[in-house]
Amino acid sequence: MTKTLALVTAMILAVGGAAQAQGFDPIETRKAGQDLVNGTFAGIKAVVTANGDVKTLESPAKAIQRWAVVYPTLFPPGSDKGNTKAAPTVWSDSAGFQKAAMNLSTASETLATAAKAGDATAVAAAFKGVGDACGACHKEYRLK
Ligand code: HEC
Repeated sequence: MTKTLALVTAMILAVGGAAQAQGFDPIETRKAGQDLVNGTFAGIKAVVTANGDVKTLESPAKAIQRWAVVYPTLFPPGSDKGNTKAAPTVWSDSAGFQKAAMNLSTASETLATAAKAGDATAVAAAFKGVGDACGACHKEYRLK
């Protein structure tokens, strides 16, 4: 997991570097971040499924929590056009979109707290909450 996180960090830095060279690209940034979140989420799932050491899940859960807070800032006006699957509702219902991101933030914070406490039962429940928060937002704000 530490290795995964180091890789994630390196990739985020790489994305930042590329953006600096070409100008900030919010669509590429949010998609790259979502892919990284997806990998982090899969890593958490693997530990939960294998009844592994849940204490290792604190920092990946925190990473998702931080991402959830930043995420809604990556949809500036005009970034609805181009290579994106963001639904028009992201902009027409921006309060609802923000709330969906905050729900992920809260769910992953609960997961981080359960992980820190080493409570496997609470981790399993919180992990489900995180997955539900991903799905709920995709249902309303991501095109198929
Ligand atoms: C607040 C809303 C929201 C939440 C919460 C959310 N997503 Fe997304 N997700 C989106 C939107 C919108 C897109 C489409 C972005 C785009 O194409 O510009 C997306 C795209 C993606 C993609 C595709 C990225 C790509 O390369 O095209 C993946 C994978 C993904 N999300 C995984 C997740 C996972 C896993 C979670 C939960 C841990 C999550 N998302 C939580 C809104 C959300």
